[in-house]
Amino acid sequence: MKKMLIAGNWKMNMTPSESINLVQSIIDGTKDKKISCDILVCPPFTSIDSVSRTVKGTNILYGAQNCHFESKGAYTGEISIPMLKELGCKYIIIGHSERRTYFFENDELINKKVKAVLGAGINLILCIGETLREREENRTFEVLKRQIEIGLNRVQPEQCIQIVIAYEPVWAIGTGISAEPEQIQEVHSFIKTELVRVLGKRASSIIVLYGGSVTDENAKSILELEDVHGGLIGGASLKTDIFLSIVDTAISILEK
Ligand code: PGA
Repeated sequence: MKKMLIAGNWKMNMTPSESINLVQSIIDGTKDKKISCDILVCPPFTSIDSVSRTVKGTNILYGAQNCHFESKGAYTGEISIPMLKELGCKYIIIGHSERRTYFFENDELINKKVKAVLGAGINLILCIGETLREREENRTFEVLKRQIEIGLNRVQPEQCIQIVIAYEPVWAIGTGISAEPEQIQEVHSFIKTELVRVLGKRASSIIVLYGGSVTDENAKSILELEDVHGGLIGGASLKTDIFLSIVDTAISILEK
């Protein structure tokens, strides 16, 4: 049976009190429904504690958007994995393109974070994706191959159950221009093949999300694709109605 994860990446939005309101509205909107997909919210660090208290006793999962690879030490301004683990984070997003672009995270650094998160027994969402220029230069597959090979270097096959991949073409993030379904299916199928090549057959259970301008309007055409197992939703995850409508779409696809 198809598994589906609908994850909200709130980015640098929502104060703690705003976060409580947003997650409460998601709880209210899902509580009378049979939710067959997983729902995850990733608020900013400062809201994780309030969100954890608000979702207590519900099925809503929460996680973080980044972490440092060292467990403690002199890294002013950074947040460690044990800190997030103690707050009950179930997932950590690693290698988001905004971290790669604005904070110069390269594949080697991302790999350190990946190994640290997996070693701590937490799940991760590893984000990969090409820029517009790389796509125009026909380098999409080469870039994704490198991001997978280096990002998952020295990961053990038994850790596959902790890994989720998010394919997020950089040109589609926050632009309102989502990739076309054919492009998404082609890339997801490639990613699945690469994962098995790099990590062995256990990697066939790794789910691959799509991210980049997912809305209630395009969710159906994306989520129903064979190799798409959910979405990493940015802007639309801040609007309860739209986020819940995407969740509903996922549920109706799973019920088919
Ligand atoms: P977007 O962001 O949905 O606003 O395009 C997706 C993401 O960056 O994860």
